[in-house]
Amino acid sequence: MSEFVKVARVGDIPLGSGRTVYLGATPIALFNVDGQYYAIHNSCPHEDGPLGEGTLCGSVVTCPVHAYEFDVTSGECLTEEVYRVERFEVRVEGEDILLRL
Ligand code: FES
Repeated sequence: MSEFVKVARVGDIPLGSGRTVYLGATPIALFNVDGQYYAIHNSCPHEDGPLGEGTLCGSVVTCPVHAYEFDVTSGECLTEEVYRVERFEVRVEGEDILLRL
């Protein structure tokens, strides 16, 4: 049985922004794209840059370390397609944002 865990509140992630949250001990980058929430692993697959601290433009986050770009809706890297970042399923219940364990 899948389990969802609360990681943030809706008001914590303004439209067009992201932040780092924790799913247990795992850092997750959580983004608000036009009112939809998307979650990917926080560690950039290039050299572990913190994607939750990256700049979001539309659905694309730019890693703050070497500026590789990732589509947060798919996890695909737009800079070098060999890279991909793990996605996590997001659910909103009331004011709570939950991620699947
Ligand atoms: S660590 Fe993210 S682009 Fe290099």
